[in-house]
Amino acid sequence: MTASIDPGRVAELTRKMEEALRARTSRSGEFVEDASQVLPGGVASSFQEQSPYPIYIVEGHGSRIKDLDGNEYSDFHNGFGVMVVGHAHPAIARAISETAYRGTHFAAPNQAAVRVARELSRRFRLPKVRYSNSGTEATLDGIRLARAYSGRDAIVKIEGSYHGHHDAVMVSVHPDAADIGPRSQPVSVPQTAGIPKTLLDLTVVVPFNDADALDAVLSDNPDIGTMIIEPIMMNIGVVPPKDGYLEAVREITQKHDVVLIFDEVKTGATIASGGAVETYGVVPDLVALAKATGGGTPIGAILGTEELMGQITDGTVTQIGTFNGNPLTMAAAEATLIEVLDKDAYAHLDRAGKRMLDGCQAVCDEYGLPAHSVGVSSKGCVMFSTEPILDYRSYCDQFDEDLNYLGWLYHMVNDVYMTPGADEQWTLTIMHSNEELDHYINVFKEFAKDVTAG
Ligand SMILES: Cc1ncc(COP(=O)(O)O)c(C=O)c1O
Repeated sequence: MTASIDPGRVAELTRKMEEALRARTSRSGEFVEDASQVLPGGVASSFQEQSPYPIYIVEGHGSRIKDLDGNEYSDFHNGFGVMVVGHAHPAIARAISETAYRGTHFAAPNQAAVRVARELSRRFRLPKVRYSNSGTEATLDGIRLARAYSGRDAIVKIEGSYHGHHDAVMVSVHPDAADIGPRSQPVSVPQTAGIPKTLLDLTVVVPFNDADALDAVLSDNPDIGTMIIEPIMMNIGVVPPKDGYLEAVREITQKHDVVLIFDEVKTGATIASGGAVETYGVVPDLVALAKATGGGTPIGAILGTEELMGQITDGTVTQIGTFNGNPLTMAAAEATLIEVLDKDAYAHLDRAGKRMLDGCQAVCDEYGLPAHSVGVSSKGCVMFSTEPILDYRSYCDQFDEDLNYLGWLYHMVNDVYMTPGADEQWTLTIMHSNEELDHYINVFKEFAKDVTAG
C-alpha cells in the first residue's frame, strides 16, 4: 500500500538536511561568493548550479571524489554520465599523459582517429564516423546532414528531451506545464531567450512513446525531413521506450522519408557496447555520441550511413572543427573503448544496475513510498511517482520534485554524490563495489523510513 506523505514533514526534513549539507560544505558555500565575481552563478555551465549552492570538487579516483571541504563521496553523478570508467583510470590516464608528452594538437590527420572510428562503427552498426567536441556539436552536425539530405528544413523532436544547446533543439526541453498546449498539438516552447522565432517555428514536438502521434505529425507536416530522438529519455530521470516503439519510429520515419537520428549522447557507451542500437536492435540513419565515449575528455561524434555521410565526402555538407579528432581525445577514447570497456566491463555494469534497481525497489515496497526504480544497465534512478512515467506530460503530472530533492540531500550528507535535479539519473562505474551500491540503497532506506514515519 502507498504511504501518505505529509508535506509538512518533507519540508521539515528538507530544512534539517539542507542545514547539515551547509555545515559540511561551508568552504564551497564561501567560495561561491568569490567565484560569482567572475563566473555567472559561480559555475562554468548553468547545469552545475544547484540548491543550496554549488559544491566544488577537487579530485576523483575510481568511484570516489573529494570536495573542497575534504568530504569524500562515492560518486553516482560521474560527470553527467561521462565517467562510466571511473575517475583517473590508469590505462586512460597513461594514454592521456603519453600523448601530452608527444604533442596534443596538430589539426592534422592522425591514425588513432581511424582506429577509434573503426571501433565506433563496429559497435553502432553504421559505416562512417566524424568527430566533434561535445554532444551539442554532434546533434548539430546530425541535423545539418539530415536537413541537407532530405532537402526539408523542419525537424521533429520529443517533448521534454534535451539534445544540447544549439537553437534547433533548445525547444520544449523542460517547458512549463502551463505552456505546453494540448497533447494532440504540443506547443514548441523556447528553452531560453535568444532563439529566433523563425527557427523556433522549424522545430515541431511530439510526445515520447506515442507512435500514432508521430505518424499524425509527419502526415500533417510534409516539410519535416528530420527526426531526433533519445532512444531512452534520460533528461527526465529514465523513461525507456515501450515495447515496439523504436521499431515503429523507424518504420514511420522511413514511410515519410524522414531521416532518423538517435541521440545516444547519454546511452552511447554506457548501457551496452553499442548503446541503444545494440540493446533494442534498431539502427537509425545517424547516431550522435559524446560523453562517455571520450573517457573523460571532450568528444562528440556523428555516425551515419554511406548515403548521409557521403554528403561530407562530396562536399555537399561542411563538417569541421579545429579540435575534431585531436590526439588527446583520441588517445583517451581508444583506451576507453578498446582497453577498458570490454565485455566484462559491460557485464559488471549490468549486474551493478540490477542490484541498484532491485535494492531501491525493495525499499519503495517496504515503506510504501510513492516511487519506483527504473533503469537500464549503468543508468537508473528512483522515479518519485506511483505510475510508470511514459513521457514528459506524465512526468509533469506525477513526479514529486520535493521528495526527489529530499532524497538527494540524504545522499549528499551521507557521502553519496548524486546528480542534482529531478531530471537526472545515477551512472554506475566499473569501479563501484557492491558495498558502495548497498550504501546508496541503505541511505535511501533511511530517507524512506524518515519520510513515511508518523
Ligand atoms: C541526450 C543529450 N544530448 C546532447 C547533450 C549535449 O551534450 P554536451 O553537453 O556535451 O554538449 C546532452 C547533455 O547532457 C544530452 O544529455
